[in-house]
Amino acid sequence: MNISIIGGGAWGTTLAQALSDNGNDVLIRDINPNFVKKINEEHLHPFFDVVIPKNIKATLNLKDAVSYSDVLILCVPTKAMRSVLHEINTIINTKKLFVNVSKGIEPETSYRVSQIVNDEINAEYIDGYVCLSGPSHAEELILRKVTFLVAASESKEKREYIQRIFSNDKYLRVYTSNDVIGVETGGAIKNAIAIVSGIASGMGLGENARAGLISRGIKEIATIVVSLGGKMETAYGLSGIGDLIVTASSMNSRNFQCGLKIGKGESIKDAEESIVQSVEGIRAIKAGYEIGIKYNIELPIINMAYLVVTNQIDVKDGLQKLLARDLKEEKYC
Ligand SMILES: NC(=O)c1ccc[n+]([C@@H]2O[C@H](COP(=O)([O-])OP(=O)(O)OC[C@H]3O[C@@H](n4cnc5c(N)ncnc54)[C@H](O)[C@@H]3O)[C@@H](O)[C@H]2O)c1
Repeated sequence: MNISIIGGGAWGTTLAQALSDNGNDVLIRDINPNFVKKINEEHLHPFFDVVIPKNIKATLNLKDAVSYSDVLILCVPTKAMRSVLHEINTIINTKKLFVNVSKGIEPETSYRVSQIVNDEINAEYIDGYVCLSGPSHAEELILRKVTFLVAASESKEKREYIQRIFSNDKYLRVYTSNDVIGVETGGAIKNAIAIVSGIASGMGLGENARAGLISRGIKEIATIVVSLGGKMETAYGLSGIGDLIVTASSMNSRNFQCGLKIGKGESIKDAEESIVQSVEGIRAIKAGYEIGIKYNIELPIINMAYLVVTNQIDVKDGLQKLLARDLKEEKYC
C-alpha cells in the first residue's frame, strides 16, 4: 500500500521505516531539499546515520505527496501544522484519512491537531482522523528497538486500521483508544513537564525533586485532559504517563535538553534555538497556561513554568514560590 508522510524529520522518516518494514511504499514530503536528497540518493535517515529501505522516497512537492495515498501522516512541528493543512486544502481533491503523529496544542486557540484539521480541511475531504502517540524516541525506533504506541480515533474501524498498518511482531506494538482528546492532550502537555524536569536537573536539583515534579506534573496533565473532556485513565496510559517517563528523564528528549539549558541559566531564546530539531515544550507550556485560565483549573507547575519561559520570573525564584505554596493533601483527580 502507498502511504504519504508530511514532514520527514526525525520522527517522520523513522515511522516511514516501520511502514516500509510492514510492506508499504512510502513517499515523504519535506521542505528541506537536503533531507529529500539524502533520502532519495543516499537512502539515509536525515538525522541519524542509518540506512533506510529503498522503497522510501521523498519529494519537495506537496501535491505529489497528497495525491500519492489516501492516508496522510502529519509529522510537521505543530507550529507549522495549520499552514501545512491550509496548503493541503488548496490541492486535495479526494477523501483522505488524516493521521497525526505530532505532539502539540496551538497556544493561541488551545486547539488540538484534530481541531486544526477540522478547521482547515473541507469536511468532504476528511475520511477520518487518528492520533498516533505514546512513549517513543525516534533514536530508538530507527534501530528497531521495541516500542509501544496508541492509535486514537472516534472511529473503531480507523483506529484498528492504523493499529494494523503500524504494528508488527518484531518491534512495534500499537494499542487502540477511542479517547482522541486524552491521547492528543497527554502527548502535547507532557512536553511542558519534560521542560520543567530538565530545568530541575539544570538547576542541580536531585532525583528526588525531579521525581516529585514529574509525579505532580502527571496530575496536572490529568487535570487538563479531564477538563477538556478526555478520560483520566488515558493520562495514566501510554500517551500520558508513558510518554512523560520517556521524555522527562532522557537526554534523547529535546524538551528535557531545552529545560536543562534553561535551568543552567541560558536564556529561553538561546536554549530553544540551540536545538536544531523542533522543541514543542515551550509552546505546550503556553498552551497549558491558557487552558488553565480558560477552564479555571489549578496548574501550579505549568503556571510557574509559564512565568519562567516568558521571562517574568527567574528559575530560582520560581522554585522558591512553588515550595512556599500552601501545604496540601496529595490528591489525584
Ligand atoms: N523525534 C521523536 O522522537 C518524536 C517522537 C514522537 C513524536 N514526535 C513529534 O513529531 C513531530 C515532529 O518531530 P520531529 O522529531 O520529526 O521534528 P524534526 O524537527 O526532526 O522534523 C520536522 C520536519 O518537518 C519539516 N517541516 C517543518 N515545517 C514544514 C512545513 N511547513 N512543511 C513541511 N515540512 C515541514 C522540517 O523540515 C523537518 O524535516 C513533533 O511534534 C514531535 O513532538 C517526535
